[in-house]
Order: sequence, then structure tokens, then C-alpha cells
Amino acid sequence: MGGIYWVVQFMVVLCLGNFVGCTWSQDNADEVSAVYIVTLKQAPAAHYSGELSVKRNDIKHGGPGIVNRLDRPSNISRSDSRNGSYVARIHDSLLRRVLRGEKYLKLYSYHYLINGFAVLVAPQQADKLSRRKEVANVVLDFSVRTATTHTPQFLGLPEGAWPQEGGYENAGDGIVIGFIDTGIDPAHPSFSDDISENPYPVPEHFSGICEVTRDFPSGSCNRKLVGARHFAASAITRGIFNATQDYASPFDGDGHGTHTASTASGNHGIPVVVAGHHFGNASGMAPRSQ
Ligand SMILES: *[C@@H]1O[C@H](CO)[C@@H](O)[C@H](O)[C@H]1NC(C)=O
Ligand SMILES: *[C@@H]1O[C@H](CO)[C@@H](O)[C@H](O)[C@H]1NC(C)=O
Ligand SMILES: *[C@@H]1O[C@H](CO)[C@@H](O)[C@H](O)[C@H]1NC(C)=O
Ligand SMILES: *[C@@H]1O[C@H](CO)[C@@H](O)[C@H](O)[C@H]1NC(C)=O
Repeated sequence: MGGIYWVVQFMVVLCLGNFVGCTWSQDNADEVSAVYIVTLKQAPAAHYSGELSVKRNDIKHGGPGIVNRLDRPSNISRSDSRNGSYVARIHDSLLRRVLRGEKYLKLYSYHYLINGFAVLVAPQQADKLSRRKEVANVVLDFSVRTATTHTPQFLGLPEGAWPQEGGYENAGDGIVIGFIDTGIDPAHPSFSDDISENPYPVPEHFSGICEVTRDFPSGSCNRKLVGARHFAASAITRGIFNATQDYASPFDGDGHGTHTASTASGNHGIPVVVAGHHFGNASGMAPRSQ
């Protein structure tokens, strides 16, 4: 008797469990929010620079006299009417109109390379946004895996591009390279600015900032590593930020960002020693870049 009672009760619990599970997952499929990157059809700031640079070529032929902002990229965001705050207001207004009275959280507005924004919304809301005529596409934000890289020898730089630039000492001169990665270790010798007799210049047109946090204190940037920022809001909002291994700062908690930044831009002739083993000297592909 007791045994049968137990079996019946077990079945009831099982069914109830199934029922609850079923309803929950259906609700969940309808309502689970995620971070989406929404790109608008309206061109970003970089695109206008390109158009303007074409127009300047017309000057010689009596065309409109507009200065090439790619040649003179200083202060485009400050002086252009399509600056960050203006574009962000357009994004906010679009969200208010499309998702009137609904819950959503805009994380970032982008205006340099894409005209768009990152927003935490439900799938139906993402769908609503993607059906708007001013929207080019809506893509789910996703995590990416780190991967390996190449070497100057593999690319033939010591006999190829470097001599053409006047040696590795000059390769990349006047160029500031931007990285989007896991962060950067400012203490790494690849980013030291006093390794050569020829000091790095203050980059003429660079207007980026060097963010200061507890993990990335004042003085982390120098004339080689000229700026650094972190963008963790999406990972934090999505609940995948792990504070024991990730830093809410430009500091590289993983090593990959330091690796890729030094691969592209790191100082030349930096000995690589791991656990007492010498693996030769590392160099950026454009060692003089910043
Ligand atoms: C760019 O902005 C900086 C700081 O606001 C200013 O000192 C500089 O004169 C500006 N340059 C141009 C070309 O407008
Ligand atoms: C951005 O552009 C708007 C409109 O042209 C202007 O009123 C505003 O002052 C600009 N903001 C900044 C930070 O330059
Ligand atoms: C966070 O990272 C640590 C160290 O890698 C790991 O032990 C821990 O399980 C992680 N926590 C979560 C919730 O993933
Ligand atoms: C590596 O760089 C050091 C200086 O940092 C230099 O003394 C050494 O000769 C270099 N080794 C090779 C194999 O190029």
C-alpha cells in the first residue's frame, strides 16, 4: 500500500514537473532577453570621411572645396554634426518609437565604423527593430574564441616590407593601431616606450582616451601604448562576466589581447622566455606603430 502510494505520488510529481518545465521553457523562449547589435542603414562617421575625401579630389577640377578628413582625421567627432551625442539621440528616439512603453536597455551607441547600437531586448522586440526601414540588420551579440597568429618570418617582412620602410625601426611610423580584444598588459616590454634611442612621438591626430581603473592605474599608458578603454557592459548585463578571471578595465585578464597587440604593434627584439626556455625574440609586424 505504502509502495503504491509512493509510486502514485512520484508520478504526480513527475507530471507536475513536466508541466511546469514545459510552460516555463515556452515562456522563456518568448521572453528571454539578449543583447543584439542593431546596425542602421544611415552611414557612420567614417563613411562620410571617405565621401569627403573623394570630393576633395574635385577641388582641382573646380569642384566643391571640402577638406579631406581622412588626411586630417583630428576632431571629427567634436566638429561634425554627426557626433556621438547627436547619433546616440537618434538611436534613443528610434528605440522609443519602435518599442513604445516596452522594457529595453540600450548599452552602447556606435557612430564611427557602424551607425548602430547594442541593446538588451526580447526576441520579438529584436524582430520589430529588424522590420524597420531604417535598420540594416540585427545580430545577436555572441562570445568569440581566441585564436593563434603568425610571425614576421612567415610573412617575409625582414627581406620584404621592412627594408622598404627603412628597416623595422621605421615600419609603422605615424600609425596608431586600434585593437578590440581581451585587454592589454601595460607592463609588457612589447609596449615599453623607452626601448629604443629614437623616442616614440606624441601621435599627432590621436584623440582616444586612456581609462584609469584600479587594475589599470594612472601611468599605464605611455607613448607606445597611447590609449585603452574597456567595454564590459554587455557581458555584465548578460550575466556571463566572471569577476575571478575578467577585469572591468582595460587590463588583460586573459593574455590574448596582449598577444595580438604585440603581434601587430609590439616593440622589435623582445626576448620570449617561458619557464626558463628561450623561444627567440618577438616583434610586432609594424614595430614603430603605436
Ligand atoms: C582638436 O581638439 C583639441 C582638444 O579639444 C584642440 O586642442 C585642437 O586644437 C583641435 N584640433 C583641431 C584641428 O580642431
Ligand atoms: C554634437 O553636434 C551637435 C549638433 O551639431 C552640437 O550641438 C553639439 O554641441 C555637438 N556635441 C559635441 C560634444 O561636440
Ligand atoms: C569563473 O572563473 C573561475 C576561474 O577560471 C572558475 O573557477 C569559475 O568556475 C568561474 N565561474 C563561473 C560561474 O563560470
Ligand atoms: C634578441 O634581442 C636581444 C636584445 O633585446 C639581442 O641582444 C639578441 O641578440 C636578440 N637575439 C636574436 C636571436 O635576434
